[in-house]
Amino acid sequence: MSKKPVRVAVTGAAGQIGYALLFRIASGEMLGKDQPVILQLLEVPVEGPQKALKGVMMELDDCAFPLLAGMEAHSDPMTAFKDTDYALLVGSMPRKAGMERAELLSINGQIFIGQGKALDAVASRDVKVLVVGNPANTNAWIAMKSAPSLPRENFTAMLRLDHNRALSQLAAKTGKPVASIQKLAVWGNHSPTMYADYRFATIEGASVKDMINDHAWNKDVFLPTVGKRGAAIIEARGLSSAASAANAAIDHMRDWALGTNGGWVTMGVPSNGEYGIPKDTMFGYPVTCEGGKYKIVEGLPVDEFSQGCIDKTLAELVGEQDGVKHLL
Ligand code: NAD
Ligand code: LMR
Repeated sequence: MSKKPVRVAVTGAAGQIGYALLFRIASGEMLGKDQPVILQLLEVPVEGPQKALKGVMMELDDCAFPLLAGMEAHSDPMTAFKDTDYALLVGSMPRKAGMERAELLSINGQIFIGQGKALDAVASRDVKVLVVGNPANTNAWIAMKSAPSLPRENFTAMLRLDHNRALSQLAAKTGKPVASIQKLAVWGNHSPTMYADYRFATIEGASVKDMINDHAWNKDVFLPTVGKRGAAIIEARGLSSAASAANAAIDHMRDWALGTNGGWVTMGVPSNGEYGIPKDTMFGYPVTCEGGKYKIVEGLPVDEFSQGCIDKTLAELVGEQDGVKHLL
């Protein structure tokens, strides 16, 4: 007996992340090779993106994915999010040359207020929401605040790309396989202020910090490389990361839905006050996932250097929140 299909809403579905994401969701890489999906795809109500979305759907058709139980094109979040079990909020306005961050926050803030309200009104009460569109943490916070009837823990922001970038840099530094690295944490905002923290990381039981034993490399090479990787990709490609961002979104949702077997991953989640972060701040934390729920890893010691990094990324997030509070 095959499973009942679940509904997966994706916004910005005709964009470049959408193009790297939808085919993998439809092939079962996100929710399992036995889980049929119905894709509910949202694009702006403008002819060009709607036409492009139809083209993407034609290609999805042409893949004849056995798990693709249905798909719909939408231009209104109130229909796109109807009964949805998963919502990947990718669509948002990218920053244009000369645009102030405050202006971007305000434009995207309006989008995520509307989408938060629509999720509140029509989505499944258990909907798992992942915000990818930047500034991801603050957009997720806005959506959560705009959806008061949904549990706040249903809203998350994507820091998995930072986590994966950090894993890859550590694998290169230590000469060990990526998959052998356990217990990495990324704290804070999806921005250059995030703090990728390998103090607790292990490879086959040995401490990664002891293996590297080089604070200058951590401070002057590792953290800037991971923090500025998004900008480096834009510089190299002329476009922001898309395949790696889609891959991180798949990883985030798969682990949230199917579990991490005790392993740590990074998710941006609303704080309950852990590590002194004010309640509700959408903050990157190390988490474990089981039974469709995430749990923040608690009780880790925070040294002076780490506290300084956490304070810096928190200050940026609080500043972003303050900049959009008047919209709520
Ligand atoms: P893109 O411009 O190629 O695609 C975005 C799509 O979203 C467009 O098709 C646009 O029409 C659509 N869109 C805009 N507003 C919308 C709305 N209100 N409802 C539905 N659709 C809407 O951009 P992209 O490269 O796919 O990136 C999307 C977002 O993801 C950007 O904000 C980017 O900065 C962000 N991003 C985040 C991470 C992360 O790690 N969190 C990584 C990479 C990119
Ligand atoms: C990334 O980390 O690759 C993106 O968030 C960069 C960006 O500004 O789109």
